[in-house]
Amino acid sequence: MASTVPAHRSSTHTPPSRYNFMVATLTGLIGLVALSYIGGAIAFLLPRKGEGAKPQYIGKVASGGVTGSGITPAIGNFASGVAGPFVYDATGRGDAQGVFLVQMKGAQGSDNVSDYLMLEQTCRHLGCPVAWTAGANDNGNFNCPCHGSVYFKDGQVRQGPAAAPLYKHDFSLDQSGNLICKGRISS
Ligand code: FES
Repeated sequence: MASTVPAHRSSTHTPPSRYNFMVATLTGLIGLVALSYIGGAIAFLLPRKGEGAKPQYIGKVASGGVTGSGITPAIGNFASGVAGPFVYDATGRGDAQGVFLVQMKGAQGSDNVSDYLMLEQTCRHLGCPVAWTAGANDNGNFNCPCHGSVYFKDGQVRQGPAAAPLYKHDFSLDQSGNLICKGRISS
């Protein structure tokens, strides 16, 4: 007896039903939503730039040493009131950026950590690294080589185009004078 299946179609072929189409579409949509959640979770877990993965040893202030938890003002590269830049890994994945340790005006001889700031080298305009230029009378400026922004010694904007002060970082010193950066404390 002759077959009734058309020559171009297998006898086992089943045409897609509306039900199968809906199942496939829904499965795809659920998969996309799941992927977006997984991506969001990964992004949440990864450290963001500036926060650092954990407190990091970034160098020694100078041979002046440390008294208690404070700082004996340093010599050498700290003579102008600003030491650094020290290298800080901003994400814990080799994303290096510079930070300065700044001795505030009039704080010479201070052993108190609160007389010091740790400022990030990143310009708040477009992110170029700023450089310290010492001035007279315990003053000076951080200057950005890219578009001319200037910051006071405490990181506040003196001249734009930058519209925000340099980022501040939390820090501490151990008993050997090792400087430990703990990440940004200002946004
Ligand atoms: S990046 Fe510093 S002034 Fe533009």
